[in-house]
Amino acid sequence: MSKQYLFVANWKMNLSFSQTIELATKNYDSLVSLATKTNQKIVLCPSTESTYPLAQMFRQTPISVGAQTASRHTHGSFTGQVAPQSLQEVGCNYCIIGHSETRKEHCEHNEYIAQKCMHLLDYDVTPVVCVGESEQEHKSNKTLAVLEDQLAPILDALNSKSTVHSYLTPCIAYEPVWSIGTGKVADVGHLDMVLSWLAEQLSQKNPKISWKLLYGGSVTPENVANLKRIDKIDGFLIGKASLDFQRLEKIVE
Ligand code: PGA
Repeated sequence: MSKQYLFVANWKMNLSFSQTIELATKNYDSLVSLATKTNQKIVLCPSTESTYPLAQMFRQTPISVGAQTASRHTHGSFTGQVAPQSLQEVGCNYCIIGHSETRKEHCEHNEYIAQKCMHLLDYDVTPVVCVGESEQEHKSNKTLAVLEDQLAPILDALNSKSTVHSYLTPCIAYEPVWSIGTGKVADVGHLDMVLSWLAEQLSQKNPKISWKLLYGGSVTPENVANLKRIDKIDGFLIGKASLDFQRLEKIVE
């Protein structure tokens, strides 16, 4: 039986509300049949205002819907933010957190991302935590040190959390910042080393949690077969290529 991967489509803010609905409606049948016939897990992450209609549209199908960020607070006077509880209520099963674009735009600290992760788990929303180094850090061999810093508050917080429901499989997406939207992908040797290191860290520090490891950064139909050779990869976070159904289909197949 072939491996079941998780494909997370990060539509970012590339589409307006009506364009999002149009894309999802136009490809509804194809998306559902792609997920059904391949038995692969597909998650669509539109911008927040489109999560509710998409979750309604795809309910009772194998397609899931996710958000692109969440508040680190549960409720209160936090203008412009979206509570993890609301994401659960509108039907989001997943939420991307710590994407390099949100880290940069919103000056997100690793501790904030850890808080988001804990609240999402409390509301049964699977976090997809993005980690990754800059080009400069990559060139100076600091990748593992950067990832260690990014992960530390999350792993500590999880250790002090009494339960994480066993049906939740939180995800870590390794996204080298220099690969996002650039067409540059690290060589298989580097990715293999980083993902094996991540798997070891997670099982050592949070042995009770089963994690999924994703790769993100310029994933295309042309390079995905090579990436699937990396044993530790359980799925992909896909930006640009996920906006074109034909390209997404080739990646999933
Ligand atoms: P990309 O984006 O596939 O366009 O590189 C990936 C991401 O930002 O999650």
